[in-house]
This record gives sequence, structure tokens and C-alpha cells, in this order.
Amino acid sequence: MTKYAHITGWGMAVPERIMTNAELSKLIDTTDDWIVSHTGVRERHIAAPDQSTATLAVDAALKALELACLRPDEIDLIIVSTSSPEHVFPATACLVQDAIGASKAGAFDLSAACSGFIFALNMATQAIRSESIKTALVIGAETLSRFTNWEDRNTCILFGDGAGAFVLQASDEPGGVLSAVMRSDGSGGDLLSVPAGGSHLPASHETVSKKQHVIQMNGREVFRFAVRVMESATRESLEKAAIPLEDVTLVIPHQANRRIIESAVRGLEIPMERCMVNVDRYGNTSTASIPIATIEAIGAGRLKAGDKVVFVGFGAGLTWGAAAAVWTGPFLAPVKRKVRPVSYRLYARTRSILRRLWRHIEGIIWGRNNLDW
Ligand SMILES: CC(C)(COP(=O)(O)OP(=O)(O)OC[C@H]1O[C@@H](n2cnc3c(N)ncnc32)[C@H](O)[C@@H]1OP(=O)(O)O)[C@@H](O)C(=O)NCCC(=O)NCCS
Repeated sequence: MTKYAHITGWGMAVPERIMTNAELSKLIDTTDDWIVSHTGVRERHIAAPDQSTATLAVDAALKALELACLRPDEIDLIIVSTSSPEHVFPATACLVQDAIGASKAGAFDLSAACSGFIFALNMATQAIRSESIKTALVIGAETLSRFTNWEDRNTCILFGDGAGAFVLQASDEPGGVLSAVMRSDGSGGDLLSVPAGGSHLPASHETVSKKQHVIQMNGREVFRFAVRVMESATRESLEKAAIPLEDVTLVIPHQANRRIIESAVRGLEIPMERCMVNVDRYGNTSTASIPIATIEAIGAGRLKAGDKVVFVGFGAGLTWGAAAAVWTGPFLAPVKRKVRPVSYRLYARTRSILRRLWRHIEGIIWGRNNLDW
């Protein structure tokens, strides 16, 4: 029997600190009017020093698990899509796995910039549909404020920090994520990049002084590319899922720029009311923007069980993609289990400390340099 991948839990986390356009205009030569008229952004959330991509991802993940009524040890796979990982390695997903105590999950990061959440959603869906796993946690998380040049008015006005997570579960019931389109064009890689800090240009005094470790962007080219691909990816994913555009309750696009979204909506010939926009309050949270917008749409009563929805995004790479789904909502467990995020956090922390301690004891027993097991 064919398995379907249903979205049964969701959660989001954004830093408390809000940075308004007025505040930005004290740092750089810009105005609230310019930013709003060119991008639609009014404010964005910025991570506090003790917050990072992993801490936001963990907060979002635990909320999603609570809603889905699942314990972390029931998760088979964790994918964290991010362009601002905690480290080059280990993967942020492994840190999330440890912090929530998902003791049976494989975990890895996926790097496809702002399209990453769609790519990750598709990877998790395919793993469920092929019956290799039953339950997945897909997280989009960013702290791009750490990779922003706060002196560059072209880019620093755009981005914000945040995380959003979906729980996917297998079921024989038709529905859930039904199709996805994933595309890339590396010839445009230089249009939006963080050039230094990788193997090509390792971090050095020179790269830091030349500001090569922060976001560089050709805004006009990215704008043109985005407008070109949003409509076609949306139509293609709906066609693959055999869902007519008229039946779609909500289009949830990547929240990069209100003008890009409006132009995609014009191309699709649908009214703006059928498209979710919240870029004004979060800015571009990159791969986190689609789950955050989805969760706000649910909160506003714009997305309910049974509704047809299409997610569409684009970003650095260049990458772009879309996924069509029938919205599900939590599976009701026979007896609704209480899932307490706080207790899981404590349990996971204890488990992590014990595992470190055990590794230390093992080192003493076997001898630090003895590898003859
Ligand atoms: C970045 C972006 C908002 C710039 O808007 P734009 O209309 O293309 O503006 P331009 O770059 O053509 O600049 C127009 C003028 O505004 C100025 N300008 C640029 N940023 C400004 C700012 N923050 N405040 C005031 N003026 C600004 C420019 O210097 C330029 O001035 P000039 O004409 O005297 O040279 C727009 O190109 C964009 O949103 N691109 C897509 C970026 C994106 O979404 N990236 C993420 C993808 S996931």
C-alpha cells in the first residue's frame, strides 16, 4: 500500500529582539519609506548573543513535537535546512538531535539556501513514501544576522532570524505532501553568496578585513531570477500533484520581498488574498520563512485540514522549488499523550552528559591511545 507523508505538527521560534527600520536608519543611510516601498519589510527579529541557529531550531522542533503528540525518541530522521549552521561541522541537525533527545534519529543538514525547506520537505517525504522511515522532523533555521554586513544597505535591510519546524508522519490515508519540484542553476552562484570561510577561501585576516565572510548580493539580478521562477515552479508542482490552481486555498511563498511575491501572484492570476505574506514583520528569514508563514497562516485561520496548499521558494545557489500538499493537522492519538517539551529538554541534557561521561570512562578503561578494540 502506498504511504503518504502527512504534516502533523509544526512550531516556530523567533528571537524576542525586534529591529525596526527606524533603528536601521540610524546605522546606515536609508529610510523606513525606502525599505517598505522596495521590500515590504518593516521589522525583523535578531538573535540575542546566547541564541543561535541550533537553539532556535530546538525551540521550534519541541513545539512541533508537542503538537504532533510525539516523543523525540519516536523521530526517525531530522533534517535541518540552514545557510547559517552552528559550525562547518558537526551538522546543526546533530546538535538538535542531542538537545531534544531524539535517540533513534539520523540527522543531517541540508544546504540549499532559501529553497532549503522545500528541498528538505521533499527529502523527508520521499523517505516516508519509500517506507524507509515513519516519522521525520524537518526544520528551517537561520541566524543570518551573524553573516550580515551591517554597513551594506543593499543587504542588511532584508534579513531576519528565526526557525520553523514540521513533523511528517507516514499514513495509508492519501494526502500530505504530494509533489515537489527542485531546481538549481550554479551558474548564478556568485549573485548571492558568502564567499569566505569555506575550503575555497578559508577564513583569514584578509577575508575578514575585506568582508568576504558576510553576505554579498546582486539584488537586481536576484530579483529578476526570483520573479522568473516562482510562477513556473508553482504551476509545475501543482501539475505533478494533479491539483488545479483554482483548488488551492493558499500559496505560501518564500518571504524575501513583497514586490517579488506580488509579481508571482500576478503571474499566477490569483488574488493576493490567496497568498500568505508576513515579510513585513520578519524580513527574509531564508529557509525558515515558509514554515513561519505557514504557522502564521494556520494561526490566522487561513489554512485548515483538507485545504490544498503550495509552498514555493528560491534562493542562493541559485536554487528554486515548490511543493504541493493537502494540509492534514495532528493525527489524533487514541489516548492523547501529554508531551512536555521542558521535561524532554532536561532528559536530553542528562542523557547527553551521561553519554559524554561514558565516553570519558571508556577512554580511561581502554587507554586514550589504544585503538585495538
Ligand atoms: C535589494 C533590493 C531591495 C534593491 O532594490 P532595487 O529597487 O533593485 O534598488 P537598486 O539596487 O536598483 O538601487 C536603487 C537605488 O537605491 C539605493 N539604495 C539601495 N539600497 C538602499 C537602501 N537600503 N536605502 C536607500 N537607498 C538604497 C541604491 O544605492 C540606488 O541608488 P542610485 O540609483 O543612486 O544608485 C532589490 O533588488 C531586491 O529585493 N532584490 C532581491 C533580493 C533578495 O530577495 N535576496 C534574497 C533572495 S533569497
